[in-house]
Amino acid sequence: MDFIDVLKSRRSIRAFSDKKVEQSILDEILREALESPSSSNTQPYKLAIATGETCKTLGQALLSNYQASNKIQKQPLPLKVISAITSNALPDSDFKPMLGKYPGIFQKRRTETGMGLYEVLGIERKDKKARDEQMARNFTFFDAPVAIFLFIHPGMKHTALLDAGIMLQSLMLATTNKGLGTCAQGALGIWRSPIDKHFMIPKDYKLVCGLALGYPEENSVNSYRPKKIDLDELLIPSK
Ligand SMILES: Cc1cc2nc3c(=O)[nH]c(=O)nc-3n(C[C@H](O)[C@H](O)[C@H](O)COP(=O)(O)O)c2cc1C
Repeated sequence: MDFIDVLKSRRSIRAFSDKKVEQSILDEILREALESPSSSNTQPYKLAIATGETCKTLGQALLSNYQASNKIQKQPLPLKVISAITSNALPDSDFKPMLGKYPGIFQKRRTETGMGLYEVLGIERKDKKARDEQMARNFTFFDAPVAIFLFIHPGMKHTALLDAGIMLQSLMLATTNKGLGTCAQGALGIWRSPIDKHFMIPKDYKLVCGLALGYPEENSVNSYRPKKIDLDELLIPSK
């Protein structure tokens, strides 16, 4: 594909077919992503990649954590506190999740994007059950056969997150270029312990997010193209 076509056709994929991703293709994509720039070439990131049975087991573990924590949320306050203390489903993310409303304009953009997605899915705003079910699909990676978990070394401070973001975009573009799809998933950063059970994560590395990867399924959800900001919103006016 031409570079511009890759750039423009990459969109978050939230329905994957069960077609296996050959290891040779995955290796090629990963090598291409490694062409990314990073601060002083430090490359302060690592990936844990779940495929096959590991992908399925991990997906089920994350899903049951999501379902358990959802149940806790719905309990009356005293019970909520007890369940939160006794349950294993409490989030154990390395980075504090942003709870509640996003600040300023970001909440508006978030809501518009979410509403647009539910519209494509035929889910009404007030249909909390259907929205929960859609949210739950995050934890089984929208049925993708490959789930990637992105870790950074926090010793490299903010540059680690910046470098990891650049690498993640290269990974997504390299995947699109081969006719496959991806969805970056902050939701996969909520529970770390299920991932630790399957991978020898080096000490000090912190989980940032995940990425579902596979062949896109014919599904209207994959045609969703949320609006990007205009140039005038991007650019800071001069004095
Ligand atoms: C760091 C990051 C985390 C994301 N987390 C999620 C997620 O947990 N679930 C999800 O469905 N989409 C997630 N997305 C996808 C965004 O919603 C998506 O990129 C945005 O709406 C723009 O759409 P596009 O990727 O199709 O251009 C995430 C994207 C990024 C970059």
